[in-house]
Amino acid sequence: MFDRVAARYDLANHLLSFGCDFWWRHRASEIVKQWQPRTVLDLATGSGDLALAVARKLPAAEVLGVDFSPEMLARARAKGLEQTLLADALHLPFADETFEAVMVAFGLRNMKDRGDVLEEMARVLTPTGRLLILDFSLPRGFLGLLYRFYLHRCLPLVARWITGEEEAYDYLGASIQRFPSGSAMTEFIEAHGFADASNLPLTGGITSIYCAQKRT
Ligand SMILES: C[S@@+](CC[C@H](N)C(=O)[O-])C[C@H]1O[C@@H](n2cnc3c(N)ncnc32)[C@H](O)[C@@H]1O
Repeated sequence: MFDRVAARYDLANHLLSFGCDFWWRHRASEIVKQWQPRTVLDLATGSGDLALAVARKLPAAEVLGVDFSPEMLARARAKGLEQTLLADALHLPFADETFEAVMVAFGLRNMKDRGDVLEEMARVLTPTGRLLILDFSLPRGFLGLLYRFYLHRCLPLVARWITGEEEAYDYLGASIQRFPSGSAMTEFIEAHGFADASNLPLTGGITSIYCAQKRT
């Protein structure tokens, strides 16, 4: 599915999020910059926007984007991401303790075996390595109601129009509702190889950034 939407993926992201996705990735890349890692893995890198934002802020770091969609990786390379690798998040072809930071944006939610993927991310992190996850969460109150309406009624129609795909975005609302958010997510992270998980809600809680340390 990601291979099919690759050509229009960025446009869909920017329009459907009303441009907020630039801000979300900017915030995530600022956090990773503070850690000053020398080696960074961006899992489910897609068209590479987060990896590129981090690479621009940390020019001395090695930033590698991994994805299992060849078309998405081709987009990332065309946009300037120098290091990419075709691989499955569940079976990363790296030795233990290879990276000082591992990040995943809007990717973990789509993966069936999320706990196993988190443990795989922990495996390839150095003992002092850090994790960053950026993904959708659910706002509360009135904004939550509006947001659910947008997700289930408006977004699939607009996405269909932009990408030309009949079903590509129908799953999105359901996947966001099923994905743990807030403290449920930090507990999930801590149950799968990490410690000191924190949660930073953005844009009223429409997305959240979760950070954690590898548990040693
Ligand atoms: C919604 S896109 C997110 C892309 C990018 N991180 C971003 O912020 O725009 C999800 C990406 O996850 C990739 N993906 C999903 N499951 C994967 C897996 N098991 N292994 C590697 N990549 C995967 C898809 O190919 C797709 O490019």
